[in-house]
Amino acid sequence: MNKLSIAQARKPESIGREVRLQGWVRTRRDSKAGFSFLELNDGSCFGNIQVIAEAGLENYESEVKRLTAGSSVTVEGQLRESPGKGQATEVLARRVTVHGNADPETYALQKKQHSFEFLRTIAHLRPRTNTFGAIARVRNCVCRSIHDFFQEEGFLYIHTPIITASDCEGAGEMFQVTTLKLDQIPKKGPAIDFEQDFFDRPAFLTVSGQLEAETFACSLGKVYTFGPTFRAENSNTSRHLAEFWMVEPEMAFFELADNMDLAERFLKRIFTDVLEKCPEDMEFFNLRIDTTVLETLRHVIASDFVRLTYTEAVDILTGSGETFEYPVSWGVDLQAEHERYLTEKHFRSPVILYDYPRRIKPFYMRCNDDGKTVRAMDILVPKVGEIIGGSQREERLGVLAERMAEQGLAAENYWWYLDLRRYGTVPHSGFGLGLERVIQFVTGMANIRDVIAFPRTPGSAEF
Ligand code: 4AD
Ligand code: MG
Repeated sequence: MNKLSIAQARKPESIGREVRLQGWVRTRRDSKAGFSFLELNDGSCFGNIQVIAEAGLENYESEVKRLTAGSSVTVEGQLRESPGKGQATEVLARRVTVHGNADPETYALQKKQHSFEFLRTIAHLRPRTNTFGAIARVRNCVCRSIHDFFQEEGFLYIHTPIITASDCEGAGEMFQVTTLKLDQIPKKGPAIDFEQDFFDRPAFLTVSGQLEAETFACSLGKVYTFGPTFRAENSNTSRHLAEFWMVEPEMAFFELADNMDLAERFLKRIFTDVLEKCPEDMEFFNLRIDTTVLETLRHVIASDFVRLTYTEAVDILTGSGETFEYPVSWGVDLQAEHERYLTEKHFRSPVILYDYPRRIKPFYMRCNDDGKTVRAMDILVPKVGEIIGGSQREERLGVLAERMAEQGLAAENYWWYLDLRRYGTVPHSGFGLGLERVIQFVTGMANIRDVIAFPRTPGSAEF
């Protein structure tokens, strides 16, 4: 007897095998002829397998005929060719073992259709639905693709810390990590005495692994870090999480154009892998969530991303005749509505914007000779907007120190970062891809809270 996943059992080459299948019942139908059909799912693929349970089973009346959605079972029997449409195989059960029932009076997933808002309140059960199972498999596929891509390109996977003392983005949106008692904060004069805190200094959850990744790029060449990052920004939007996953490659001897080329190839590789490895899940998204996802992905893979400067983008936006909620002029940070206008209406393709005003970008980005802009690049895609943010890094010690002073950062806290410029400095570049944003783009899911298992947002951390 072979224990098979339902994904394996659905393949025609498995026909004839004696198998053991284990999973959760999606539906039960009883035929008048005295047997029942169970639709069984184990998460290994989108599709279910049909189980034929005949009245001769010893527990047919006592258990099988009472099975309801959500119950867990082991089915042993023979796989045979299915006469039904949309499935190659089915299993004729010799034995059905019931592990756990799911009381239909209280089990929330009895009903077929639930709103995504409701499903967020049962985040522990939503992976059992078609949509969230498909998201989990696509997310897994994207992560594998990320590693495959960088490994094949000769990058080293490194691990940067989650607890840090430096604010990479300089935006002051960090969660503080402390063991000080909030009701007995030690003081040194009027100030908090952080020497009594766990790390002898204020410490935070990282917003980005970039600064630490740079130390490895400036030793080992091409590296990437991939992990959770945290932002205490109070944005209640469909594109922001307080805890999200980011993959950050960092490359020595890369200038901005090299960075863009890599990022474009990287995204195309992810999209290609998802189409190839998750066809069933992607069909589902295309049918039920957003009828343009397949076409969009194929189009994006086949086309060159548009590249233009921030200044050119501002000219397009101001000349568009469109009324935006936030008016555009040179120097402002672009809002989602502007990004979407560029990618969805004007170019109808992904766009790489570069050379942003220095005042709206972090200290580490390389200054251009015009004195006004930095070598930043953002990749914008339809519907999601910014999916990647990156830059060439400032490798000149003097310029970097000036930029830090300009942004009010204390150079002594970044002495190790400045050392990279003091000893054997090199031109280098990198970017960050938000994992959840890429999953949103690929699946067409409208809300970022639905592409991560347990979303962390302002006021919400129940599960
Ligand atoms: O543009 P960001 O802030 O760039 C950085 O953190 C750089 N240090 C990356 C680097 O150069 N190594 O963030 C990068 C990406 C964004 O483009 C977006 O996809 C995602 O991270 N992101 C978020 N995703 C979900 N929720 C949030 N609050 C996010 N903030 C950024
Ligand atoms: Mg950004």
